[in-house]
Amino acid sequence: MFLKGAHEAALLFDEVEDVFPPISVDAAGLMARAEQQALSAAVGHSVNGKAWVNQILESNPVPTIWVTNRIEQIDPAFRRRFAYHLELKSPPPGAREQLVRRALDGVAVSDAFVARLTERKGLTPAQIRTAVRFAELAHGDDTRGGDAFEALIERQMKNSDTALGRQDGGPARQGRRQVTTYDLGMLHVESRFEIPRIVEALKARGHGALCFYGAPGTGKTALGEYIAERMGKPLIVKQASDLVSKFVGETEQNMAAMFKEAAEEKAVLLLDEADSFLLDRRGAQRSYEVTEVNEMLQQMERHDGVFICTTNLLDRIDQAALRRFTFKIRFKPLTAEQRERMFVTEALDGQAERLTEDARRRLARLEQLCPGDFAAVKRQVDILATSFSADEFLEQLESEHRIKPEVREQRTMGFVH
Ligand SMILES: Nc1ncnc2c1ncn2[C@@H]1O[C@H](COP(=O)(O)OP(=O)(O)OP(=O)(O)O)[C@@H](O)[C@H]1O
Ligand SMILES: [Mg+2]
Repeated sequence: MFLKGAHEAALLFDEVEDVFPPISVDAAGLMARAEQQALSAAVGHSVNGKAWVNQILESNPVPTIWVTNRIEQIDPAFRRRFAYHLELKSPPPGAREQLVRRALDGVAVSDAFVARLTERKGLTPAQIRTAVRFAELAHGDDTRGGDAFEALIERQMKNSDTALGRQDGGPARQGRRQVTTYDLGMLHVESRFEIPRIVEALKARGHGALCFYGAPGTGKTALGEYIAERMGKPLIVKQASDLVSKFVGETEQNMAAMFKEAAEEKAVLLLDEADSFLLDRRGAQRSYEVTEVNEMLQQMERHDGVFICTTNLLDRIDQAALRRFTFKIRFKPLTAEQRERMFVTEALDGQAERLTEDARRRLARLEQLCPGDFAAVKRQVDILATSFSADEFLEQLESEHRIKPEVREQRTMGFVH
C-alpha cells in the first residue's frame, strides 16, 4: 500500500517461506494460519490466510522478487501464481573457483587451498565467509592467511557441513590415493579398439557409455579415474548398493538423481557393481527388477556425459543392456611380461638389471596377478613405513595370489602351483 504510488520502487522479499500458510494443516500450521488471520483482521481483511495471500500475489501493484531456500515448502497453489520462476543452483565447477576467491575476500591462501574448496559441492559464499570470520577470531594474530589460517577455515567448514546434515561436504572428487605408478601399459584388456584411442575419442566427443568387466584389481576403476583426468573433469563414483532401496520407486529416483548430479557437475560418472542393474531381465524374479533395468537404460541413453559401469560378472548381464554400451572392455590379469615390468617398476625402483632368474620364474607362475595385488603390497609398505626387499615383495605378491578365488579353486581341483 505504501509503495503503490512510487513508480520507481520494487520489493525484494527474502526468506518468504515463513509468510506463506504451510501446506499441511498440522499443529504448527493451524497456529500460523491463526496468526495470519489475526494479521488480515488487523489490516481490515476478513478473508482467511490463503485467499489473502493469493490476492496479494495477484493484485499487488509493486514489482516484487520473492526469495526462498525451500520452494517445496510453499504450497503449489501459491507457487503457480508467481509470474516468473528462477532456480539458482550451486554453480558448476568452473564458476565455483571465482566464487570461492571472491568469498575469501583477500585472505592470502594457496592455490591448492582454493582448489580444495572449489571441489566441495554445495558450498555457499556465506559458509566461506563465516568460516573466514571464525579463523580471524581463533587465529592469534592479525595475519589473514598461512597454513594455520587455512586449517581453521577448513575445520569450521567441515563442522558446519556436519551441522547442516551434509554427508558429502567433503571434496566432490575424493581421489583415491594411488600407490602404484599408473601406466596404460599395465592394462591387459580385450577391446575392439586401443584404449588410448577410446580415451581420445571420449575427450573429443564428451560422451559415451562404457562397460568395464573383469576380476577385482584389474584396473577398472583406475581407468575410469584416468579417463576423467584426461578429460579434465571430476569423477563421481557410485556403488550400486548405495542406490538400491527397498521402497518401490525409490531406486529409480536415486538413479535419476545420480545422473542429474553427474550432469550438473559435468563429471564422468562411474557406477561400481553395476551388475545388479544390468541383470538379465529374463531371469528377473520380480517386476521391479525389470523396471530398474529399464530405468537405467533410459537414463543412460539420455545422459549427455561419459558413463562407465564396472562389474565382475559378465555372464549374467542383460544382452539388450550390453548393446547400449558404446565400448565393452574386458579386463584380464597381467601377462607374464607385464608382471615382470610392473615388478621392476614397483619393487626394484625401475632397475631392470636387478630382476633375478629366480624372481622371473616365480612371477611366471602367478597367472592371476593383477595391478591391484601390487597396490596391496605397496600399501603394506606404506603403512608399515618400511621398504621391502625384492624377495619380501615377491613373497607378499605370492600370498596375495594364493588367496584369489580362481587360484583356490584350481588347488582344490588338484592342480598344485
Ligand atoms: N594401469 C595401471 N597401472 C598401474 N597401476 C594400476 C593400473 N591399474 C590399476 N592399478 C593399481 O591397481 C589398483 C586396483 O585397481 P582398481 O581399483 O582400478 O581395480 P578394479 O578393477 O576397479 O577392481 P574392483 O573390481 O575390485 O573394483 C589401483 O589402486 C592401482 O594402484
Ligand atoms: Mg573398482
